[in-house]
Amino acid sequence: MENTFGMDQGKIASEIAKISWFHTFNFGNGIVTSGYDDSHKRIRTLHMPDDLSGMTVLDIGSWDGFFAFEAERRGASRVLATDSFCWSGNGWGTKDGFNLARKVLNSKVEDLEIDVLDLSPEKVGAFDLVLCLGVLYHMRDPLLALERIFSVTKGRLILDTHVEHLMTNRPMIAFYPGKELNNDPTNWCGPNRAAVEAMLKAAGFRRAEMVYQKFGFNPGYRAARAIKRKLINHESLRIAFAQDRMVFHAWR
Ligand SMILES: C[S@@+](CC[C@H](N)C(=O)[O-])C[C@H]1O[C@@H](n2cnc3c(N)ncnc32)[C@H](O)[C@@H]1O
Repeated sequence: MENTFGMDQGKIASEIAKISWFHTFNFGNGIVTSGYDDSHKRIRTLHMPDDLSGMTVLDIGSWDGFFAFEAERRGASRVLATDSFCWSGNGWGTKDGFNLARKVLNSKVEDLEIDVLDLSPEKVGAFDLVLCLGVLYHMRDPLLALERIFSVTKGRLILDTHVEHLMTNRPMIAFYPGKELNNDPTNWCGPNRAAVEAMLKAAGFRRAEMVYQKFGFNPGYRAARAIKRKLINHESLRIAFAQDRMVFHAWR
């Protein structure tokens, strides 16, 4: 049986099964990728405008591309997806998911393998909307990364990141030289909310606003989560208790 785009569904299913997915795509007709990320739930936390008609969108660290394809579905006139770590084969995944999803969705999303720190208007242009989701805490130099991201943002940035509540309103960044966060040596920093907002401003953004906070200050929930992480990842209880996830919007 063929789907709307002329691809054989049995073939799609067998190609999908070969890939280790990060994003969860629902391609219809019961074909769903077994992604680690609950992408359909997460999209709602981003507060991405429903209508992106005529807008240009850059998705930095796109991996399987779920959010880039979603921007295209919402009407963006041009979408560029970029990545380096995973797409180059050195990361946790590959580019196979992105390539297959683009084919299945009959998408025109463009792709470019480029490191965040190499982004510049000369190399990629400037975009009405920039998505930087789940990338900032992988940066050894988060302020430098935000400066590069600012340089390619014409309108608004949506930034989704791990944060730490460092029991202070002063801007501070936790540094993870080892595997302190999620047992993953590619995680380098955990800024608190004040540090994210201050860095966005220091990078050049005129206004920054936190639009979503995952865990908040419910102590029971935070404690249960911290104990789970201690048991699974052997993380420090104190550090795990302080962790959260936030989404910021920032305007040029
Ligand atoms: C946790 S995943 C997030 C994927 C996707 N943006 C999302 O939020 O679901 C982090 C992504 O950032 C990419 N990445 C990490 N370091 C990078 C760098 N220095 N330059 C470009 N991409 C990078 C990884 O390859 C990976 O695809």
